[in-house]
Amino acid sequence: MKSILVTGGTGYIGSHTVVELQQAGFEAVIVDNLSNSDRSVIDGITRITGIRPHFEQVDCLDDKKLSDVFRKHPDIKAVIHFAASKAVGESVQKPLLYYRNNLQSLLNVIEVMTAQGVPSLVFSSSCTVYGQPDVLPVTEDAPVKAAMSPYGNTKQISEEIIRDIVYSGAPLKSILLRYFNPIGAHPSAEIGELPNGVPQNLVPFITQTAIGLRPVLQVFGNDYHTPDGSCIRDYINVVDLAKAHVVAIQRLLQEKADAPVETFNIGTGRGLSVLELVDTFQKVTGVALPYRIAARREGDIEQVWADPHKANTVLGWTAKETIEDTLLSAWRWQLVVNG
Ligand code: UD1
Repeated sequence: MKSILVTGGTGYIGSHTVVELQQAGFEAVIVDNLSNSDRSVIDGITRITGIRPHFEQVDCLDDKKLSDVFRKHPDIKAVIHFAASKAVGESVQKPLLYYRNNLQSLLNVIEVMTAQGVPSLVFSSSCTVYGQPDVLPVTEDAPVKAAMSPYGNTKQISEEIIRDIVYSGAPLKSILLRYFNPIGAHPSAEIGELPNGVPQNLVPFITQTAIGLRPVLQVFGNDYHTPDGSCIRDYINVVDLAKAHVVAIQRLLQEKADAPVETFNIGTGRGLSVLELVDTFQKVTGVALPYRIAARREGDIEQVWADPHKANTVLGWTAKETIEDTLLSAWRWQLVVNG
């Protein structure tokens, strides 16, 4: 059986991807340092799929231990690299940590992969590389704009690192997936997002407020140039997003890629404002959500949503879940987390 190494595999997107990989017939080897995730996630994955993924508690900064993982699992055929720090605000406070964690880990992963003769890499990138696009929906060939945070910068630099190494002729080929805003949880409510401390992202903050853990949601700004004044994003269901990784892996392993590095937007193609999302959440859950309008949050861009045409046609991947079902899945997960 083909094994896929998933760094950050106990994290939010990583765990959902491990489930989809296993259900597509792959064996998953998780590498995670558990810095922002919990070992119990492995039990959740096992309950969904009936298969316990391999787990190695290893930090990708430790290249020796990373090499050992490849030696221990000689069937590894490809890598999906999720392991990274992802809090935009924290990255402004701790840039050194972000550059080291996100860039050194990537360098180690690529170095070890190429040394072990594993050429296929799927990399977690972000729509953050576009900044505020001039044209919406944004396509993959839109210009990359100056990053608004060290976190965003690590995604841009990571993409460049991968391109430079691939085009140097190294034995490496890669698919870069630019995620829009991942939300929701597995429909089984066995796995979902487990934010550390106060959530920075919108949907976990909404579900924690709805369940009474937070007094009120602050809507950051209602004076943007959008129809209702709040920011617009493209919210993508995390299971749909996970499935995009499976098709990307299959494309690399079947050598179907059109170029040694390919980039795909992974979004729904639909923009939703913060206020629309809050409204939809209240409608589908029947829970009243206390919220108030607050000042704009520094660093936020006004509006962005994907043109997912390339992923739809070339990868054969399309976002399927509705926003209603996705918000319900996030709510069900919050109810499980709070027992
Ligand atoms: C950011 C990053 C993205 C990254 C993601 C994960 C940018 C431009 N985007 O997404 O690359 O993958 O974080 O950490 O850097 N909001 C509120 N109240 C809240 C929280 C959020 O109104 O309490 C609003 C925000 O102002 C924004 C929207 O909700 O308009 C989404 O925010 P969030 O979930 O934090 O994601 P992004 O900032 O879009």
